[in-house]
Amino acid sequence: FLVEDIRNFSIIAHVDHGKSTLADRLLELTGTIDKTKNNKQVLDKLQVERERGITVKAQTASLFYSFQGKQYLLNLIDTPGHVDFSYEVSRSLSACQGVLLVIDANEGIQAQTVANFFLAFEAQLTVIPVINKIDLKNADPDMVEKQIEKVFDIPSDECIKISAKLGTNVESVLQAVIERIPPPKVHRKNPLRALVFDSTFDQYRGVIANVALFDGVVSKGDKIVSAHNQKTYEVNEVGVLNPNEKSTHKLLGFLGLLHMEVFNQRLEQEYNAAVILTTPTVPYKAVLSSAKLIKEYRQKEITIINPAQFPDKPKVTEYLEPIVLGTIITPDEYTGKIMMLCQARRAVQQNMMFIDQSRVMLKYLFPLNEIVVDFYDSLKSLSSGYASFDYEDAGYQTAELVKMDILLNGNIVEELVTIVHKDKAHTVGKTICERLKDTLPRQLFEIAIQAAIGSKIVARETVKPYRKNVLAKCYGGDITRKMKLLKRQAEGKKRMRKIGNIEVPKDAFIKVLKTQ
Ligand code: GTP
Repeated sequence: FLVEDIRNFSIIAHVDHGKSTLADRLLELTGTIDKTKNNKQVLDKLQVERERGITVKAQTASLFYSFQGKQYLLNLIDTPGHVDFSYEVSRSLSACQGVLLVIDANEGIQAQTVANFFLAFEAQLTVIPVINKIDLKNADPDMVEKQIEKVFDIPSDECIKISAKLGTNVESVLQAVIERIPPPKVHRKNPLRALVFDSTFDQYRGVIANVALFDGVVSKGDKIVSAHNQKTYEVNEVGVLNPNEKSTHKLLGFLGLLHMEVFNQRLEQEYNAAVILTTPTVPYKAVLSSAKLIKEYRQKEITIINPAQFPDKPKVTEYLEPIVLGTIITPDEYTGKIMMLCQARRAVQQNMMFIDQSRVMLKYLFPLNEIVVDFYDSLKSLSSGYASFDYEDAGYQTAELVKMDILLNGNIVEELVTIVHKDKAHTVGKTICERLKDTLPRQLFEIAIQAAIGSKIVARETVKPYRKNVLAKCYGGDITRKMKLLKRQAEGKKRMRKIGNIEVPKDAFIKVLKTQ
């Protein structure tokens, strides 16, 4: 293929607006998959995605399409839809020149539509608005067209109205991809320059990297260098690298609860690895004042990812926390409640705009740690599921931070060490202790649960001892029943993490974090 006959594009959409369905139709139309077979949502191929019905990890497919007597190669790069994964969205987008922005003709523009649009816009990609689900009874494509014009400044005649489900007008989407999206700019004569935007690990073939080629050519047998770590790798097959396995174990930090659960499940399923969960933490920064520490870190400003490495106040001039620009779109009737929620999360309002007669778009600056765990769930429940939310990176700001330990009978629970805002330490500590009290199985002795900042205890709960033991009822009794109970107990124990002499079930961590 000549470079000018190649198009690299992504489909971006708010959750459930029909991205996967459209991708399936495009694959069918181009003969990439067989229409007669039950090939629903081929791109959602990871096991977790099937189980949860959401797209997590970007997948790619190459489509061949003839248009006006010419054969084109269309690379469809799939992107995840859920708010917790916007980092993967931007990575996928950097490999494209254009996007299809899919919007549900009934629901209209939602928060993720806005966030995804701006990711694409900032990356200077061509945006093709696709209004989907026009077959629905309540569909109002004209209203959505007006929203698109108002919010994104895209003329309404550029919108393509389709039903991905029925296949209506999907062909014009492919034509728009060819006509409106420019081919990639690749200088084949220059030395190789490529971006790895996704990778998976195959036990037999090594690491399979999806790359976007910017310059040069890559072929089997080539030796290539990673600009990130300067290591050299050999190309076994085109596009197949064989680097160290470490990268598959080294994680993204978790961007949200769902993200954490999904990764936990993915690691267990794909890599057979048991994972120790830690509190989702955001990368804080500290400006050091201690000469000794500055020498040790060889810089004045450090990033703290592991709460255990949090340097205390006298050694620090100021702490900085990451902030994000959040977009909320909601029916007007919930605006008041949502504003109160945002205020409780230390958010500062930036903007408010009616996108049509009944829907409001709110923009707030949030400290990332205030939304990373359960903000989305709270927003959904107070708006009966109608409000949508997404966010993008907005730099750092000064914050009064402290490190909080959680102790079980005096032993620190490493997984639950957190960095919190000073004003919130008591509330957060109290909630974690209460949650732990409800979640921890009783043991044969009393358990003291404490939240502490340095040596100061800010919250405390007690779990009363458990008096019976599993075998008490079987004394001298039926041996098979006894074995069965012991086996059941042993199975339960596999999921336990021992802290001091206290057994903590693994899912307790998730339960505790969920309601922080
Ligand atoms: P995520 O992968 O979770 O981001 O969702 P998605 O955007 O890929 O949405 P998906 O394609 O899974 O579609 C969501 C739901 O909308 C499914 O139940 C589809 O059958 C339905 N749907 C998609 N396109 C259409 C359409 O054109 N008309 C109607 N009526 N339903 C559609």
